Amino acid sequence: MAEDLQIITGNKADQYHSLIPQIKGLLEGEPDLIANLANVVAALKEQFGWFWVGFYLVKSEELVLAPFQGPVACTRIKKGRGVCGSSWAEAKTIIVPDVEKFPGHIACSSFSKSEIVVPVIRNNQVVAVLDVDSDEYDQFDSTDQQYLEEIVNLIAF
Ligand code: SME
Repeated sequence: MAEDLQIITGNKADQYHSLIPQIKGLLEGEPDLIANLANVVAALKEQFGWFWVGFYLVKSEELVLAPFQGPVACTRIKKGRGVCGSSWAEAKTIIVPDVEKFPGHIACSSFSKSEIVVPVIRNNQVVAVLDVDSDEYDQFDSTDQQYLEEIVNLIAF
């Protein structure tokens, strides 16, 4: 089965508009969570070329590293710690234009310069977060927030 992603150029919204139906196609008929998380991060990485894209799953009161694309990363993050743990604690998306200015930022890589973390909420509980890092400053905005929130909501947890 051919699963090649169609990559487009254009503005951010155009790129998300092209990618979202393809992500729906990848998720369709596949019940396995890890397989679906793996394909979503791969699709995002392929389209946008970000430095790091990955999920952390809430497990026993910690975030634990799950499928990702990019350099090796911290495996466990406590609630309220770093951008990921803050997004979990506050159950909201956090956009960080400059990671050095975010108190408590966890530097898995010194190359990471800006970041967006989107919580995955099911039955009023955060069950995971999607973390995206760029090696350039100020790469994420409300467009990313809107579409990444839409994308995580496509995944059955
Ligand atoms: N920077 C994140 C940690 C995860 S890595 O970026 C992959 C944070 O502050 O929570």
